[in-house]
Amino acid sequence: MLVLGIESSCDETAAAIVRTSECVGEAGQVLSDVVHSQVPVHAPYGGVVPELASRDHMRNIRPVVAMALERAGVGLEQVDGIAVTCRPGLSGALMVGVQLASGLGWAANKPVVGVDHLVGHLMAVFLQYPNVDCPPPPSYPFVALIASGGHTALYRVDAPSADRIVELGATRDDAAGEAYDKTAKLLGLGYPGGPIIDKLAAQGHPNSVELSKPMAARKSLEFSFSGLKTNVARWVETNGLPGDDQTLRDLCAAFQRRVVDALVAKAIRATREQKLHTLVLGGGVAANRELRARAAAAGERHGIRVVVPPLKCCTDNAAMIAYAGSQRLLSGADDRGQLSISPRTILPRLTRKGRGPRQTSHQA
Ligand code: KG4
Ligand code: ZN
Repeated sequence: MLVLGIESSCDETAAAIVRTSECVGEAGQVLSDVVHSQVPVHAPYGGVVPELASRDHMRNIRPVVAMALERAGVGLEQVDGIAVTCRPGLSGALMVGVQLASGLGWAANKPVVGVDHLVGHLMAVFLQYPNVDCPPPPSYPFVALIASGGHTALYRVDAPSADRIVELGATRDDAAGEAYDKTAKLLGLGYPGGPIIDKLAAQGHPNSVELSKPMAARKSLEFSFSGLKTNVARWVETNGLPGDDQTLRDLCAAFQRRVVDALVAKAIRATREQKLHTLVLGGGVAANRELRARAAAAGERHGIRVVVPPLKCCTDNAAMIAYAGSQRLLSGADDRGQLSISPRTILPRLTRKGRGPRQTSHQA
């Protein structure tokens, strides 16, 4: 099955062609993967400006789709279906992709399926790229940690369908990527903050700066990252912005260690509680070098296989959307005429946002 994927939920305009077998759960071969990044558009503001995002998607989506078809060497008439991100994301931005997908679907008489962006991130680990070392895909069921700019949550995934995915715990406030971006902005480092802090942290000494542990409560599978960001802000209030490169690297290393500590400890605990042996990582923060290395090491200690997608499909792309859509298309789904957008994920949310007492553990 050949699927055209389209993604425009936030600040990347993307299209891809993915080939999947007729069997659910098998790997998907990426034939083309085009990503137009809006980083230069939003960088001056230190974050995504929704109206600018919609306009930039409008300008670029058609050439991006045309390029994905051309690079894969296929015509629209050859694809078996179209998959498009329809939630969660910025409404105006989502609308651009959904309108185009619907139009192409009617024009070429192809089925169109809406895909939840988070389900896309969960499925990125099934993609195989030519000339890239890709791990063999995991088998269901598995536990997945999705850590991106908008979401941070742990899921039990029994099948590639939203109704077979259960949240085990999520962040009460900021997402991990959001904490990276806000901290980088605070330190005047630019946008997006994750890759910049990741690079600086690699040369820093995490023990040189003392920062609080986010949500260290042993039993909880929930996360909280806003306190850590405030902690960095307090450090800056007291000490001023780092005056030399090494202090900046040390501060980044201390921040990153706390984020990675929380993500790894809770992801491993969730996998053990579910009595499963596979942990999948996904989302932009899964591109983080320390997270990848420490999750792999912790997995080895606990007899858990940690499967991480290649770097290029951790951050937003349309190949993961094409793959997730293919799993719906295989069962004959066609959302034409009833495709709507939503700012919220379709995955039921268990974690309540904000402070206060709550359930501390989601046992299997
Ligand atoms: O999944 P993604 O591309 O978009 C969303 O769905 O949000 O994730 C983007 C987020 C940003 O917050 C960015 O700072 C973070 O992922 N990110 C990283 C790294 N690369 C991207 N965070 C930590 N380390 C990285 N290497
Ligand atoms: Zn994303």
